[in-house]
Amino acid sequence: MELITSRERLERACREARSAGAMVGFVPTMGDLHGGHARLIRTARLECGFVVVSVFVNPLQFDSAADLAAYPRRLESDVEKAESLGADVVFAPDEDTMYPAGPPSVTVDPGPLGARLEGASRPGHFRGVLTVVAKLLNLVGPSRAYFGQKDAQQLALVRRMVADLDLAAAIVACETVREPDGLALSSRNARLDPGQRRAAPVVFEALSDAATLARRGERRGDVLRAAMARRIGTEPQARLDYVAVVDKATWEDAQLVDGPTRALVAARFGETRLIDNLVLPAPPGDATKPSVQNTGAD
Ligand code: PAJ
Repeated sequence: MELITSRERLERACREARSAGAMVGFVPTMGDLHGGHARLIRTARLECGFVVVSVFVNPLQFDSAADLAAYPRRLESDVEKAESLGADVVFAPDEDTMYPAGPPSVTVDPGPLGARLEGASRPGHFRGVLTVVAKLLNLVGPSRAYFGQKDAQQLALVRRMVADLDLAAAIVACETVREPDGLALSSRNARLDPGQRRAAPVVFEALSDAATLARRGERRGDVLRAAMARRIGTEPQARLDYVAVVDKATWEDAQLVDGPTRALVAARFGETRLIDNLVLPAPPGDATKPSVQNTGAD
């Protein structure tokens, strides 16, 4: 495994792999690798002959300097983990390498979906994400790029960017990896104090409540949203940011759940903001729509 910091070396390594007939798989990350990232890297390893993992804490996507400064940086252990998972390259550029002329003046506009939900809570976030993902896709030139369902809105926006801008990579969605109590793995979980950590599974419980209601035949979006908000409200340590029930394809708010639907929650525990989401199962007796769980397929 090779640790690469320069864009020239990266481009050459990927070009050589392609010339040797390997399909290049790419897993973009901000490092501090955990089991969620591991699922992406393992999937890429299974599907591709040459696997590149990027580790870059992208300043463009942080709306708060404090959040950026607090983001964990553990390159040495990330390199070890990526190697043990079978990566061929870890690309860990510094800020000057990614943005040689300083913050870019031309950026990727994420469109209307980029202004909702996470985009409403974190202005500029998705512009920063899509801009760095477009740059990384251009540098690596992968056949496939791997993203987690955990950040479903990010995944949807990356798919739209790739379609709308005719980028070449196929985008592969990987299922969310969770702790046994349901908490989705995230670098932010380490910031929770013990009380907050005990409270945090309420996010998944709220999503599970919506899934249970949907499975029993509840189709009203408002009822599902209210149930999730109520569950978050039972946990004194949690402050609700948003709950949403949206059409899985269009991301429009679902008034009536009559097709594939996604429930989403964002909540704060002290200073730490956690997000999670779940595809809701189809109502009972709906033979036209298979009962969907988070299968990884998007
Ligand atoms: P980061 O938060 O490091 O996540 C990298 C990838 O891992 C994302 O595709 C994310 O959805 C996935 N991931 C995180 N937690 C996961 C979990 N519990 N289960 C499954 N997948 C999980 O997302 C980013 O970095 C950045 O925005 C990035 C795309 C790298 C652009 O800077």
